[in-house]
Amino acid sequence: MPDFLHKPILTGDLVVLRPVTEEDVPALLPMFEDAEANRLTGNHAHFDEAALRKWYGSRGDQDDRLDLAVVERATGRVVGEAVLSLWDEPNESCSFRIGLVPDVVGRGLGTEATRLIVGYGFGSLGLYRISLEVYAFNPRAHRAYEKAGFRAEGVLRGALLWEGERVDATVMSVLAPEWPAG
Ligand SMILES: CC(C)(COP(=O)(O)OP(=O)(O)OC[C@H]1O[C@@H](n2cnc3c(N)ncnc32)[C@H](O)[C@@H]1OP(=O)(O)O)[C@@H](O)C(=O)NCCC(=O)NCCS
Repeated sequence: MPDFLHKPILTGDLVVLRPVTEEDVPALLPMFEDAEANRLTGNHAHFDEAALRKWYGSRGDQDDRLDLAVVERATGRVVGEAVLSLWDEPNESCSFRIGLVPDVVGRGLGTEATRLIVGYGFGSLGLYRISLEVYAFNPRAHRAYEKAGFRAEGVLRGALLWEGERVDATVMSVLAPEWPAG
């Protein structure tokens, strides 16, 4: 039985992943306020700071998901979050998502953070399958996931309606027997 209540610290070369808290909200705000970040994640919702504080302040109590802050080791700065959620207990699966603040993308932090939390999902939580969705207009994310070991397995056609245009989403996954991968 996976112990999602235990919130680990996962250390890589570039980043450390540790439990996210309410105090991380100011650092994470650019992820929610940047128009391009919202487009890439297909986020239609608007979150105010109070709602975000409530959300991040309660992540440590969740026994069915894992929300970790991504901290850049070189600066000690919180630069994003990495999440295993939508735990499907009978099938030993989870969804994965990650977001970084706009000014740190493209430096390898996302790929490493993905490898760290996915490795934890397989090695410590005992998951069999971890999957995600990435929009067709986000080749950087697609590439980062591929480097971390995810494989494309299908397309959800027209899954997102963004500013009048229908956008496909690619489903990607990685399975425990394939790990370590990428
Ligand atoms: C997605 C995300 C986590 C990836 O992390 P990252 O640190 O930016 O990615 P990395 O630097 O580790 O890797 C990016 C890869 O994409 C490649 N890349 C960048 N732009 C690209 C493009 N337009 N087309 C193809 N590949 C591209 C880079 O060259 C690199 O691959 P390489 O190492 O083979 O050269 C991060 O960019 C992010 O948070 N973006 C904003 C929100 C978002 O898109 N979230 C994901 C929603 S599914």
